[in-house]
Amino acid sequence: MASSPLPWNLLYLLLFSPFPQSSAITCQTHRITKGFSLTASFNKHVPLESPSREFAFGFQRIKSDGFLLAVWLNKIPEKTIVWSANRDNLVQEGSKVVLNDSGLILTDQTDKRIWHTDTFGVGVSYGEILNTGNLVLYDQISAISWQSFNEPTDTLLPKQILSRGKSLVARYSEDNYSSGRFLFMLESNGNLVLYTRNFPQNAPNYAYWKSETEGSGFQVMFNESGAIYLQAKNGNILKYLSMTSSSMKDFYQRAILENDGVFRQYVYPKGGDPTSSGWHEFRSESLPSIPPNICTSISGEDTAGGACGFNSYCRIGVNQRRTCSCPSGYTFIDPSDPVKGCKQNFEAQSCDGEDHDDLFEFYSMEQTDWPYGDYQHFKEVDEEWCKKACLSDCFCAVAIFRGRECWKKRVPFANGMMDPSLSGKALIKVRKNDSSPGHPDKNDRSVLVLIGSLLLSGSVFMNLLLLLAAFLVAFYLNPKSKAIQPNPVASGINLQVFTYEELNKATNKFNEQLGNGAFATVYKGVLPSEDGNLIAVKKLHHLVSEGEREFKAEVIAIGRTNHRNLVQLIGFCNEDQHRLLVYEFMSNGSLANFIFGPSRPNWHRRMRTAQGTARGLFYLHEECSIQIIHCDIKPQNILLDDFYTARISDFGLAKLLKKDQTRTTTGIRGTRGYVAPEWFKNLPVSAKVDVYSFGIVLLELICCRKNFEAEAQENQMILSDWAYDCYHDRNLKLLVENDEEAMADIKRVEKYVMVAIWCIQEDPSLRPTMKEVTQMLEETIEVAVPPDLPSFTSSF
Ligand SMILES: *[C@@H]1O[C@H](CO)[C@@H](O)[C@H](O)[C@H]1NC(C)=O
Ligand SMILES: *[C@@H]1O[C@H](CO)[C@@H](O)[C@H](O)[C@H]1NC(C)=O
Ligand SMILES: *[C@@H]1O[C@H](CO)[C@@H](O)[C@H](O)[C@H]1NC(C)=O
Ligand SMILES: *[C@@H]1O[C@H](CO)[C@@H](O)[C@H](O)[C@H]1NC(C)=O
Repeated sequence: MASSPLPWNLLYLLLFSPFPQSSAITCQTHRITKGFSLTASFNKHVPLESPSREFAFGFQRIKSDGFLLAVWLNKIPEKTIVWSANRDNLVQEGSKVVLNDSGLILTDQTDKRIWHTDTFGVGVSYGEILNTGNLVLYDQISAISWQSFNEPTDTLLPKQILSRGKSLVARYSEDNYSSGRFLFMLESNGNLVLYTRNFPQNAPNYAYWKSETEGSGFQVMFNESGAIYLQAKNGNILKYLSMTSSSMKDFYQRAILENDGVFRQYVYPKGGDPTSSGWHEFRSESLPSIPPNICTSISGEDTAGGACGFNSYCRIGVNQRRTCSCPSGYTFIDPSDPVKGCKQNFEAQSCDGEDHDDLFEFYSMEQTDWPYGDYQHFKEVDEEWCKKACLSDCFCAVAIFRGRECWKKRVPFANGMMDPSLSGKALIKVRKNDSSPGHPDKNDRSVLVLIGSLLLSGSVFMNLLLLLAAFLVAFYLNPKSKAIQPNPVASGINLQVFTYEELNKATNKFNEQLGNGAFATVYKGVLPSEDGNLIAVKKLHHLVSEGEREFKAEVIAIGRTNHRNLVQLIGFCNEDQHRLLVYEFMSNGSLANFIFGPSRPNWHRRMRTAQGTARGLFYLHEECSIQIIHCDIKPQNILLDDFYTARISDFGLAKLLKKDQTRTTTGIRGTRGYVAPEWFKNLPVSAKVDVYSFGIVLLELICCRKNFEAEAQENQMILSDWAYDCYHDRNLKLLVENDEEAMADIKRVEKYVMVAIWCIQEDPSLRPTMKEVTQMLEETIEVAVPPDLPSFTSSF
């Protein structure tokens, strides 16, 4: 590191001369000592300058929003900021930065501490801003105790090194410096990765570019000649991010992770003609920008909407920058901030089982796609068929048609991109201009549904009957929907009716068992009609009643659910004595295999699984038309799809099963397992039973172990007890021993354990709702300190 330590004689003077401050310091404006202070002010304040005066440190005013304590390039009119202390927390006039024995401290106008340098207890004697732009603090023996080069914001400068575990975080927008949506991180394992950040969380999310240097990457170096490369520990260059052939002496340089997620290098001619100078993107011939195309790079599950946010699409413009736009029928949620995504500006199709075909039309966009997140896929169909299928499906907002394939998407659709490399088209379903949501063509069917909703507070049975009635009417009055699916059940939902023979064939005579539970056996199968889609066929035994109506009504209720964290029901069979349910096949098995298996899955993936499961339950409890209480949340019932997204299965079945059966899951050897205490006490059961079970699953996810482990030490046998003890004794590290990633994220571990403790409160009314749980896990609301848990022996 290029720091020029003070000559010893000067140091001697500084430390021991009776008048050091006045003689040695005042003439060197780039050096600061104890007592140094700068105040944010609308009037010009004199910043601290580097000896060359090329860099300065002080307060910069950011529009009218406040001040940023920053380092900037001082000789150019742009005063480009290359580092800042309080990017997420602008301060107002009167705020101050001072240097004392513990380092630099920024306080706001009310003396509240906003930021301070973390010198890990090493004292600070003086500081300076170097000609490289590095702000450095030294201790009494002139060793570096803190430097801004080690705490980069979004920019790297020549001579700066990004070491393992360090990252750049893009700013939110061009002129908003707060932490934005992208992360450039040299992970502790040596892999250099670009991630999306899941707003407003801080967790890395979707990796859209990787150096693939796990195990070997050591540091990212930006050298004076403008080369940026990833080095191994022995100095070997593993990968160039940028390369130059000419001298860069006459240029200012910087490399920045920009607010669009692209890592770019810029140069600025020194002392050139001020009218023609300015920052120019520098790109070596042989190396594309990173990533080469941001629009198509961010595409996968969990990208938080993609390069441009939900319901929007991304395009690379002539200037090589991305543009975010809304499809026809959609407008920006926040026009001043396009990356927040788009919203429908028409009333969405309702799922009341009516015929809406003439109220909606399609707007077609060539070379456009919203990859991933489709919930249905058909092969060997034509465009007309694809449109019809989307039109008659209330969940379908966009259909992608390519080749002879058709994919259906629901809102919010993600990863939108328009690019010449894409074939096929997107068909956007929009409400026709003259079709008010009042539906003048509604007939008595709507009256029926209306009565149904008026009575929703009445008995469940009544509702089911009404639902069934509504469905039957819709079904018989609406022959059109019949043309679309071979065996539609109700328009607006996509349930297929299978014959027993069809399923017998699809499962090859119920050959391959996937699972076997108390009330059902699950088999793997393949559907011949569609592209060989894999299915899971659940054969139910022991039903409450053999009543066909009740079964069908339940199945329709399940079929109406549609959420990315639920396993989707495809269809059913209800023939003679046979009751079968047909689901999508989940390729990655159950959460139980995932977390109790031999290799511990990644902490961030586990957190996402917890969040996904919470979202799925929140949907079942509060967002679907009839509340569904799962009653049997456990890792075996949470499945993982191709992308390891958590998908809850077996919901909506509770009512189909005999009551005593759900109540037989009594505790084993004194553990309560996943089952909420109210089951044992014959108290009324509410959605809070699922919250309880979720709390236990959350602990298991955090610790990757079962709630009950007979081989564990006595005080650790029951995870919920042990976790509470660790939380209580402020010793959470014990819970995640040997899990480096979780250890490094111990604050979040604590938060998650607190959420779990809230969930497993004995008193159901104390437990949060799944909505609150979701918000706490996604860190949009704070987690309060949970109450004590009564000891388990006392609760039985
Ligand atoms: C430095 O200043 C901060 C804030 O004013 C104060 O909390 C801290 O104790 C001071 N440190 C020393 C060593 O004086
Ligand atoms: C910058 O963006 C963040 C994130 O949206 C927002 O919370 C903050 O208020 C913005 N800051 C300014 C100064 O506009
Ligand atoms: C910077 O790195 C490039 C590429 O490895 C090399 O050619 C050049 O000599 C280096 N410059 C300095 C000043 O080290
Ligand atoms: C519907 O109205 C909007 C605005 O009035 C117009 O831009 C759009 O072209 C119209 N669409 C059709 C299909 O008439």
